Amino acid sequence: MPAPLSAGDAPALAALHAAAFPPAEAWGADAISLMLGLEGAYGFGLDGQGFILARAVAGEAEILTLAVAPEARRRGVAGALLRAAMMEAQYRDALVMFLEVSADNTAARGLYSHAGFAQVGLRRRYYADGSDALVLSRPLSAA
Ligand SMILES: CC(C)(COP(=O)(O)OP(=O)(O)OC[C@H]1O[C@@H](n2cnc3c(N)ncnc32)[C@H](O)[C@@H]1OP(=O)(O)O)[C@@H](O)C(=O)NCCC(=O)NCCS
Repeated sequence: MPAPLSAGDAPALAALHAAAFPPAEAWGADAISLMLGLEGAYGFGLDGQGFILARAVAGEAEILTLAVAPEARRRGVAGALLRAAMMEAQYRDALVMFLEVSADNTAARGLYSHAGFAQVGLRRRYYADGSDALVLSRPLSAA
């Protein structure tokens, strides 16, 4: 079961983030702590295998990051974390959830498409590696 995160979890989450993302994109403990302190921010972790950070403000929610350890992938960890984040967003009165994903990120695109997200925008050359970001969204009323 996904469990709520707090700033005290930041060092362990940074280690997970570094394992999941390329070095240039990995977030340190300070950045994660800062994210968790943003207005409306929250997060869930699942047995040290993965975590999700999100925020819900003024009726709109966004996924800030999602990471699953390489050895724990394709077992439904990200799907469970995403569902927990969507339910929490609904609880916080958000009507829609947004996120950005690299056009090159096949795994994440598969995950989000599977979860009912659809493309609503494009940010060209958004990432450090020059890839485009797709902006995806999903209404939460049907979550
Ligand atoms: C993307 C990521 C979070 C997926 O985590 P995961 O726990 O392996 O995902 P799940 O097992 O919950 O997969 C759920 C669905 O997503 C899709 N999916 C997941 N990995 C996939 C892959 N490599 N290729 C295609 N589809 C994939 C599938 O539809 C899958 O359902 P299925 O296994 O029944 O076919 C993980 O690969 C990761 O941490 N990647 C690096 C960090 C990252 O890209 N984060 C997202 C940034 S927006």
